[in-house]
Amino acid sequence: MSGRCGVLVTGATGNVGRQVVSQLLAARAGGVRALTRDPDTARLPRDVDVRRGDLADSDALTAALDGVDTVFLMWPFHSAEPAAAVVDTLRRHARRVVFLSSGAVRDGVAPQRQPHPVGRSHAAVEQRIERSGLRWTRLRPSTFAANTLWWAGQVRGGDVVEGAYGGVPMALLHEADIAAVAVRALTGDGHAGQTYVLTGPEILTQVEQVHIIGEVLGRPLRWRELPRQAAKARLLADDDFPDSFADTLLDGYAGMLTAPPPVLTSTVEAVTGTPARTYRDWVADHAADFRCAEPVPAARYGSRGR
Ligand SMILES: NC(=O)c1ccc[n+]([C@@H]2O[C@H](COP(=O)([O-])OP(=O)(O)OC[C@H]3O[C@@H](n4cnc5c(N)ncnc54)[C@H](OP(=O)(O)O)[C@@H]3O)[C@@H](O)[C@H]2O)c1
Repeated sequence: MSGRCGVLVTGATGNVGRQVVSQLLAARAGGVRALTRDPDTARLPRDVDVRRGDLADSDALTAALDGVDTVFLMWPFHSAEPAAAVVDTLRRHARRVVFLSSGAVRDGVAPQRQPHPVGRSHAAVEQRIERSGLRWTRLRPSTFAANTLWWAGQVRGGDVVEGAYGGVPMALLHEADIAAVAVRALTGDGHAGQTYVLTGPEILTQVEQVHIIGEVLGRPLRWRELPRQAAKARLLADDDFPDSFADTLLDGYAGMLTAPPPVLTSTVEAVTGTPARTYRDWVADHAADFRCAEPVPAARYGSRGR
């Protein structure tokens, strides 16, 4: 990467980061560098300069920032403890940061007083960035549609999705829309000091989300309400779900059930010029994840015997 023109994408193998990478490449926005702890399994496009590193490893982060002007920062930790070192390293090597924060952050509330644990850590990182002297933009997205991939195994295995708090209303966001806003802020002017509160275009309960998955797949699906303890046991039994997050998630849902419904924003359209995608759009884009794998025809493997 030559000159100070590149973008470093952290969390580049995640839901949002992978989209940020591909949209930066599509926008031909200069060199794209990606940070991952394991380049061998990262499956990033060939044109990406992939660097190995943990965000908490200052030396690796410093090396990855060489020649970089702008950073997409995704916070993978459950606390803000590494923030002082991470933000200090960014401050010394880059000029601009776009931070993937969270819609759980409440304005005007100190980090330690934020009501939601995710809000506490993200608000603390926001505050560090704000005080760093970096040019910053922060994204505060609502619930990711990608969370519903947690149901993929149940959908592939039957017609029922089990969980708790089926009536919780959510304004699910497509990761491509979060990335589209991020890419505008990473590559354009006029985004410094902006806080973008992002939501999808509609409010849907979990029960309604399951029905939409069924409609897109072309078979009826239904929700079965579980008591909280049973729902927690199900999450803990899921190898893809982080155990330490089970209570945080269920507490969050319990709170959302009694809180006022989410307020929709049109920020995605205001920033990108295109309305936010619906949940139906998202399911269509991810339908393969919910379908049983088709048996691969023998001919696909040909005579090479792979
Ligand atoms: N899910 C939601 O509803 C929601 C809503 C609002 C905000 N958020 C926020 O969005 C973020 C999650 O984004 P996402 O869904 O795109 O991520 P994700 O799919 O969960 O992916 C996690 C990413 O973090 C990277 N990572 C994990 N530990 C790391 C470490 N120690 N050092 C460097 N990289 C590390 C992984 O990279 P490698 O494995 O390749 O290293 C991977 O790219 C979180 O901060 C979350 O609080 C989520």
